[in-house]
Amino acid sequence: MKTHIFPDYPQLCQRVAKNVIDCVNAKPHALICIAGGDTPLGVFAALVEAQKQGRVDFSRTQFLGLDEWLGLGKDDKGSCREMVWQHFFDKLTLRGEQICFFDGLTANPQAECQRVDRYIEQHGPIDCIVLGIGMNGHIGFNEPGASLDNTCHVVDLDSVTQAVSVKYFDTPREVKQGISLGLKTILAAKNIVVMASGENKAAIVAQTVNHPASTDIPSTLMKTAQQANLYLDEVAASAL
Ligand code: GLP
Repeated sequence: MKTHIFPDYPQLCQRVAKNVIDCVNAKPHALICIAGGDTPLGVFAALVEAQKQGRVDFSRTQFLGLDEWLGLGKDDKGSCREMVWQHFFDKLTLRGEQICFFDGLTANPQAECQRVDRYIEQHGPIDCIVLGIGMNGHIGFNEPGASLDNTCHVVDLDSVTQAVSVKYFDTPREVKQGISLGLKTILAAKNIVVMASGENKAAIVAQTVNHPASTDIPSTLMKTAQQANLYLDEVAASAL
């Protein structure tokens, strides 16, 4: 996994967006997965702008959700679905059948995992995946100790993830479980982009780079993939 450092967040996002644009321009019906969370927000904006300017056409692209908090849906501010729709899908003119996203309100999480796994069997492997890094090194909701054999699965959230989650919500939410693509599916992606921005990610970024690949820090596992790049702004790279 090669590390690339950019002077600031906007330049980082432009570069990550270019990766997605190049992928879709080479393969218009590509399967793209972009994380929710705060880190990719600037990438969404750059991609919406690129489509407006005619630099990319998402009309045949398939989009896959990475993860979701169990119990939260589109009306819950801070859910992955709410964030990704608000900042990205609602701003592109996509058809419903172009999107496969976990339903956090499902009454049957196991069946929801099977539904998304079936979709990936039909449309996968993922052509390009853009990932953030959790404060504990999680990737999607693959928490420390996650199995490399996992496809879609339900996760008991780590205490760090539960504590960090308050930043997304405007009212207190009790999030104890998530639903996520597994490491097996993520590592099978043809092009993996891991991105991190800001001072609060500097320590986990340094661990990701310096620690040997281990399920103890899921972000280190991205180093084992065929094609993975780590994109950082200078602040996130400051402890390297
Ligand atoms: C969240 C999500 C991930 C995200 C990561 C980093 O909990 N489950 O999909 O990539 O943690 O989030 P952020 O970008 O907000 O720091």
